[in-house]
Amino acid sequence: MIPLSVPHFSGNEWTYVKECIDTNWVSSAGRFVDLFEERMADYLGIEYGVAVVNGTAAIHLALKLTGVEPGDRVLVPSLTFIASVNPIKYCGAEPVFVEVNRETWGMDPAAAAAKVEELEAKGQKVKAMIVVHLFGHPVDLDPLVELCRRHNIWLIEDATEALGSEYRGKKAGTIGDIGCFSFNGNKLITTGGGGMLVTREQSLAEKARYLSQQAKDDPENFIHREIGYNYRLTNIQAALGVAQLEQINGFLKKKKAIAAWYSQELASLDGITLTPEQPWANNSFWLYSILVDPLKFGMGSRELIQYLRRNGVQSRPFFYPVHRLPMYEACDRTEMKETMLLWEEGVNLPSSVSLTEEDLHRVVEVIRQAHLESIGAVR
Ligand SMILES: Cc1ncc(COP(=O)(O)O)c(C=O)c1O
Repeated sequence: MIPLSVPHFSGNEWTYVKECIDTNWVSSAGRFVDLFEERMADYLGIEYGVAVVNGTAAIHLALKLTGVEPGDRVLVPSLTFIASVNPIKYCGAEPVFVEVNRETWGMDPAAAAAKVEELEAKGQKVKAMIVVHLFGHPVDLDPLVELCRRHNIWLIEDATEALGSEYRGKKAGTIGDIGCFSFNGNKLITTGGGGMLVTREQSLAEKARYLSQQAKDDPENFIHREIGYNYRLTNIQAALGVAQLEQINGFLKKKKAIAAWYSQELASLDGITLTPEQPWANNSFWLYSILVDPLKFGMGSRELIQYLRRNGVQSRPFFYPVHRLPMYEACDRTEMKETMLLWEEGVNLPSSVSLTEEDLHRVVEVIRQAHLESIGAVR
């Protein structure tokens, strides 16, 4: 089976992890945790990074930093992984789902603006907005930054899928007030499990670090004046992170080559829409994705996924729209036409850094075959 997205370890991973074990620094203190934070911040061109156990924890802490309170509204897209949304509920706040658009597959600025106006007219406080750079393509941030500034709303970037992507020359995750990254096994770089919160503000970074370490005021006497979390990344994980980050440019180059190949080979197929790439965007192409129009292509996205599976290729549908899940179906939302269409038509294709040319030929060949069979050109 050609997998969807698997890690690639070809640098100093063993050496750095061995150093942790040899020196007994395996827990959340140790040189690699600080080094990983510094190197990530340098790479992104931002002042501070706080390493945490996963991307979900980064989003949770980001919300805690905004001071969001029970009953406050937080805008978020519905076409995302559930981890963009659950932390809103961890804080007792209310998600409000906002439509995405075709241009980026991320939050639509016009829909967000209309929703903010509507909520404020009703006297409901919008405390924060979480935008998601889905599969690596950045959201159109300028109008959203402007909207948030005008209405005093915190802007959190869920950049868990977009490490290395850029919006108008700036790294995704560094443009809003707080950015969140994930180093889960399927992400561009991995620490097994891991995440990072990034910010330009020293006070926010310090607060995040404090909350991630059980809000320890006096470590000797175990004095805690707030409720904190055990969210700090371990040295072993950070060691992996440092080694992976050393290879990031090569990984991104490979992702671009994979995307260029798919785009070139699939562009002429009837009924296939390619991953977006706006002129102002530099897409990391974390997961290359297509839309399948069932009438033109001859079969729908779900049938294509089954067909690929039968032929040894792993692919998957887009995230199930969160507003349709039982815990969230009663939440406020905008119209969701585009969200539903993208969900119905979307397919993520194999995008691992370790894919060979032969693998790529095979994926494209199977998709072509599926098309030809379904339109009756091949028996
Ligand atoms: C959009 C999105 N948000 C949040 C997360 C959460 O990251 P993690 O799995 O590291 O908690 C992920 C990935 O898993 C994701 O894809």
